[in-house]
This record gives sequence, C-alpha cells and structure tokens, in this order.
Amino acid sequence: MFSDIQVAPSILSADFANLGRDVQMVADAGADWIHVDVMDGHFVPNLTIGPNHVKALKRVTDVPLDVHLMIDNPEVQVPWYLEAGADSVTVHIEACKDAAAIIQTIHDADAEAGISLNPETEVEALEECLALVDMILVMSVHPGFGGQSFIEETPAKIEAIVAMCKKANVSPRIEVDGGINAQTARLCVGAGADVLVAGSAIFNADDPAAALKGIRDAAD
Ligand code: DX5
Ligand code: ZN
Repeated sequence: MFSDIQVAPSILSADFANLGRDVQMVADAGADWIHVDVMDGHFVPNLTIGPNHVKALKRVTDVPLDVHLMIDNPEVQVPWYLEAGADSVTVHIEACKDAAAIIQTIHDADAEAGISLNPETEVEALEECLALVDMILVMSVHPGFGGQSFIEETPAKIEAIVAMCKKANVSPRIEVDGGINAQTARLCVGAGADVLVAGSAIFNADDPAAALKGIRDAAD
C-alpha cells in the first residue's frame, strides 16, 4: 500500500567506535538512506561529527548519505559536506539567512536538498522553499539527542505540510525524524510522511535488522 516508504537509520545511536560496521549492518538490512546527524554545539546543545566522517562513510557503503545539518551558519559549512560526498543535505530553516541560495548550492553539486523545521516552528516558515527542495524534514522531537519521545502533534503538522505542498502543486518527500518506532511510523505515514528516520529504535534493538523491517512493515 505504501510501497515507496523509505527507512533512514540514524547513526547517532550507532556505536561510534564501530561506525563502519554498524553502517554496513543497516545497509545489509535494506536501509534506503544512512541518516547522518551533524550537530555543532550552537544550533543544538550537542556536538557530533563532521565532514571527515561523511567522507569516511562514503568508503564503506553505497547507500546514499542523508546529511542532516543541525548547525548555525549553514551557508559556510554546506560546501564541506558536498565535497565530502553527501548525497542529500538538509538545513534548518531557523538557521538560514538565505535558504534559496543554500538550496541552489546543494543542487549545483548534484545533491538533493532538504529543509527542516523544529517542533515549535510554524509550517508557514517553509512557504518560500516548498518549490525548491527535494525533501522536507519534519522534526518530531527537539533536535539534539536520540532516544526522545515522539511529539504527538507531529502527524497533524505533516498533514498541514502535505496540504501546503498540494496547494503549491509540488511533491517533495516528507521525512520525519525523532522518536520513530513501528507505532509512530504508522501514524506519520498515515499523515503523509514517506521517509522514516529511526536511530534508537534500530540501533538499540537486540535485532536491528528486524527492527528496521518492523518500521517499514508498520507503514503497510
Ligand atoms: C535528533 C536527530 C535524530 C535522532 C533520532 O536531533 O536529528 O536523527 O538520531 O533519534 P531517535 O530515533 O532515537 O529519536
Ligand atoms: Zn536527524
């Protein structure tokens, strides 16, 4: 029924001492994207990884890298991730001075461009970008940490974004990120999401491959 649903395991919950191994594990389990959470300690109160990790991950997998930049001044750093080989780069609307220019920079490098919004940001903030992006990333937790609880208002927000897109006659992919498990995946897909990011639900599971499959199957 929802056969084009994609699953993007977030390596934020992987074993950073064995990142290559964990990425290969979810690639073998059928991941559609590897979701790479970049945090700068300013835009969010946490610090993770940088372009060197993206470059290194490109060497261990053919699964496209979905780089989620939770950083200030993305206009400065986006080129670093493009040069490192990111297949998709998502920036936050709250951090962009000129979102259209950043999206253009991403497209000029033949990568896919995404725009994200925090839970407290109104959907109208995306209006200027709707027709420019390949993907809209809806945060279903406050960005910064894995393992948080899903914000219940998210499906309604996804529905509002889908309605805005319909009105504008565009159809970017809708990705949802934070607190996704088989149960919340179902709610989000029902509301119109088609890319599911999951970190702790996959990497903290006893059987990560089964957990990934469980999230994908929940959407059917
Ligand atoms: C949170 C990150 C997410 C995070 C999701 O700021 O953007 O990608 O890894 O983790 P879970 O799935 O554990 O909520
Ligand atoms: Zn993320």
